[in-house]
Amino acid sequence: MRSVNELLDDVRGKRVVIRCDFNVPLDGDVITDDGRIKAALPTLTKLRDAGARITVLAHLGRPKGQVNPKYSLAPVAARLGELIGADVKLAADVVGPSAQELSASLADGQICLAENVRYEPGEESKDETERAALAAQYAKLGDVYVSDGFGVVHRKQASVYDIAKLLPAYAGELVAKEVEVLSKLTTNPERPFTVVLGGAKVADKLAVIDNLLKVADALVIGGGMAYTFLAAQGYGVGNSILDAEKVDVCTEYLKQAEATGKKIVLPVDVRVSDGMDFAARKVIGDVEIVAADQIPAGKEGLDIGPESEKLFVDTVRSSHTVFWNGPAGVAEIPAFAEGTAAIAKALTEVDGLTVIGGGDSAAVVRDLGYADDQFGWISTGGGASLEYLEGKELPGLAVLEASAKGE
Ligand code: 3PG
Ligand code: MG
Repeated sequence: MRSVNELLDDVRGKRVVIRCDFNVPLDGDVITDDGRIKAALPTLTKLRDAGARITVLAHLGRPKGQVNPKYSLAPVAARLGELIGADVKLAADVVGPSAQELSASLADGQICLAENVRYEPGEESKDETERAALAAQYAKLGDVYVSDGFGVVHRKQASVYDIAKLLPAYAGELVAKEVEVLSKLTTNPERPFTVVLGGAKVADKLAVIDNLLKVADALVIGGGMAYTFLAAQGYGVGNSILDAEKVDVCTEYLKQAEATGKKIVLPVDVRVSDGMDFAARKVIGDVEIVAADQIPAGKEGLDIGPESEKLFVDTVRSSHTVFWNGPAGVAEIPAFAEGTAAIAKALTEVDGLTVIGGGDSAAVVRDLGYADDQFGWISTGGGASLEYLEGKELPGLAVLEASAKGE
């Protein structure tokens, strides 16, 4: 990949279009964790100082090709402006007259933001021609392209992939740093190497376990996906999240692990209740701790229990490389944040490299009061870092390598 640094000597007055991942968690229009915006600052600052005229492309949430004010980048533009100490104007559209005018009006060192790229149906289209047509519109906003949204490099989308075929393409500092750190996990990690998985995107993450079992020595599984594994062990899971179609796959994973001498560490006890009111961040009914094979009918498992915490913590602390993606319970609700808090603490005690991946996990550790430098690295990518670990080719990185080779 060519580095953005190669651009800096000769970028004054030139228009740069840069892809960032500003998909930040919001409570209404308040940004609850601005880590992804801060992570973009090194590259943006370098480009500004070098006198580039910068148009940022970014997405927020999944508006699915429809204009929807709920997903406007307005809060992001305001926060970015505060962080860099300059006005950052937001276009009223993505590639329409507003974005074009704003981008053309930039002075040297100024930044503007186009609206959420996912307002455009072409952005995530499976049809290459449609994506290419939108990418051609993006390409009008700059003379060169910088890719710095690491969190989306696993997506074959117009502002990540197709545009890099139309303009000279460079990797930003964040993308370069993420790849540098993650490659340490895939090339001779110091063993034991443990991957801790959790979170709510059960289907997405069950799909990656196959490959993770090949690279890691132990997989520690909490969060929503643990219940499908408990079901695979023949236990009832009450009202807990269950991906019924994947029970057989989990049974296979357990057999595969046993046959290859890998460990899959599952909860042995869980915290259950009658449910939760997520919007109000409240538990419904009382919280009880039950053995993992004793989840009562009608109860929902929402966090791992204390015995599981010990087990998970021991596995993490005896590892020399740990990658963690996804909370162990519904960490936004204090009564179900215990398991996640125990894992976070254990990570700070590891003698070796620790990497946290994903917006939710990053937000949780910051919320718990940990500083970013208590961990080896906090990746801005969740899905992207997992797919990198799995050894998959990430379209947004492959296209930068091809661009550097002149393909
Ligand atoms: C993320 O939050 O994981 C990235 O911004 C990618 O978002 P997506 O999963 O909606 O493509
Ligand atoms: Mg995501």
